[in-house]
Amino acid sequence: MCGIVGYIGNKKAKSILIDGLTKLEYRGYDSAGLTIMENENFKTLKNKGRVKELSELVNQESLTGTIGIAHTRWATHGKPSSENSHPHNDNSNTFSVVHNGIVENHIELKNFLKDHDYHFLSETDTEVIPNLIHYYFAQEENETKEAFLKAVHQTCHHLKGSFAIGVLSTHFPDIMIVVRKDSPLVIGKGDGENFISSDIPAYLAFTRNFYLLKDNEFAILSKENIAFYDDNLHPLTKESKKIEWNATSAEKNGYEDFMLKEIYEQPTAIRETIGSHLMAGQSCRFDELPFTKDFLNSIQKIYIVACGTAMHAGLTAKTMLENICEIPTEVDIASEFRYRKPLINKNTLCIFISQSGETADTLAALKLAKSKGATTLAISNVEGSSITREADFVTYTHAGPEIAVASTKAYTSQITLLAIMVLYFAEILEKNTSTLQDIKNSILELPTKAEQLLSNLTEIKNFAKEVYQNKDVFFLGRGLDYNTAAESSLKLKEISYIHSEAFFSGELKHGPIALIENDTLVVSILTVPDLIEKSISNIQEVITRGAKTLIITDKNVENTNFTKIIKIPETNHFLSPILSIIPLQLFAYYITKQKGLDVDKPRNLAKSVTVE
Ligand code: AGP
Ligand code: GLU
Repeated sequence: MCGIVGYIGNKKAKSILIDGLTKLEYRGYDSAGLTIMENENFKTLKNKGRVKELSELVNQESLTGTIGIAHTRWATHGKPSSENSHPHNDNSNTFSVVHNGIVENHIELKNFLKDHDYHFLSETDTEVIPNLIHYYFAQEENETKEAFLKAVHQTCHHLKGSFAIGVLSTHFPDIMIVVRKDSPLVIGKGDGENFISSDIPAYLAFTRNFYLLKDNEFAILSKENIAFYDDNLHPLTKESKKIEWNATSAEKNGYEDFMLKEIYEQPTAIRETIGSHLMAGQSCRFDELPFTKDFLNSIQKIYIVACGTAMHAGLTAKTMLENICEIPTEVDIASEFRYRKPLINKNTLCIFISQSGETADTLAALKLAKSKGATTLAISNVEGSSITREADFVTYTHAGPEIAVASTKAYTSQITLLAIMVLYFAEILEKNTSTLQDIKNSILELPTKAEQLLSNLTEIKNFAKEVYQNKDVFFLGRGLDYNTAAESSLKLKEISYIHSEAFFSGELKHGPIALIENDTLVVSILTVPDLIEKSISNIQEVITRGAKTLIITDKNVENTNFTKIIKIPETNHFLSPILSIIPLQLFAYYITKQKGLDVDKPRNLAKSVTVE
């Protein structure tokens, strides 16, 4: 969940490292630091706070070094502080390390090192890494680059948990060593310069050629060369990947915040995700999912496994898979799935949804499912991410880089892709074929309907200004509308810090209605055709207890005692969560802006949760 960058070349590293960290701050931003090689010695600067403050600290120094590593942190072990910031150096200040992940056996390793006269300056797990490298390097007969690589290799084999690390050594001031396991790391190949980062956008302005390291692969970078090694330190040949994104797509394009840009990019993201999977008058197409009728008929159970927003997207897919493909489907939270001993066998299909493709809980759940013989299918927005490389099959949303911590366009793209995939399965299985065309037509209309909706939402902005000081906001929905209630509640709480909960409308009277008092704000989503009347009754129950109500609906609900009604375009009922969420994304955004909070980088959060 942190951001790692590194540079080795002929330019001054300082500004390149700071620029790279700035682009990765969405991955974690409680503290930051860097190490630059200055005349074969480390200059390590770090502080609590944002990259901007680190930049001010760094600019007070005349740093001319052309090799360096840097880190923007999301703390797991040790509070945010300058001492706990990365990079961490060994006691002799000869190895400097940046790390993304968790060293689960750090206490054991720290005790081992203390027994060998090492001491520690920080509370972090990470600080064992440079000292362990120093320990193993000291065991080597000769002080060569091979010995340095072996010391890093030895160290990694004693680490339990996850890591992506960049290492510098004053013994070898012209190289950098990197390795990853379960945390992301990419290598950018430049002309007379090379880059490392946790994510591609950091250095897309410098190069389009990236190498995607696999777990337990090592690399030695110099200015001119990148040498790869497998887990036995045998040389490896790797193909670089040409990234087609343009650098500006990772910028704000004139919007005040990434989140607003990404909300308004949803019509394009949906259109790009539909892509060639669904063309008017044709069958659905997933060349990357060559499933036969026999294979799909052999599937007795589908698990959809994800976290947060991605899990909410799975809820809609569950309804479609059961209603259209008639395959029993369960949605599981990844951090629970991996420990509850799920019933899995060769007749199980496990679908993993992850925008980043790096979420540790989802990756671990995927590995568990594979180990038990399930067929695994990943849906992600990031090509080459860990989850996509681990799964048997993968298909991608094409939402473009999603930078804001709060997921928006990835969510609506995930549901769109899943919906088309369900239709693809149904066509292969020849199930409910008479209902498929209407859904296909509705999917093809989604981008236009989303555009119409987005062009007509000033009311939600005004209403947000009226209610932004509410201390609690509750969201209600029945059936598929609950999915939107859950997702919009998450959006609101994670960026505005307002307490919020989602309830099944029918469940309110079994307890939660006790929370309703005068002026409590209740948001209700009304799109599921045969549940409208029941849902309206539930809304009346809260109105009689003094609640204010915001209604999101595609129906003509004539009811004067609703506080605010936002009308959305009608679509096939299976697809309503794609449109009903849009006004509520903006609702959360405008409330947060009214509160003067950082909408793209909320406190305590990070975009990609690559630790447990
Ligand atoms: C969504 O707004 C949150 N930031 C969070 O719940 C997120 O959806 C979750 O961490 C899963 O991330 P992933 O899709 O990258 O796996
Ligand atoms: N576990 C390390 C620390 O707490 C790294 C955390 C991260 O990956 O953000 O410093």
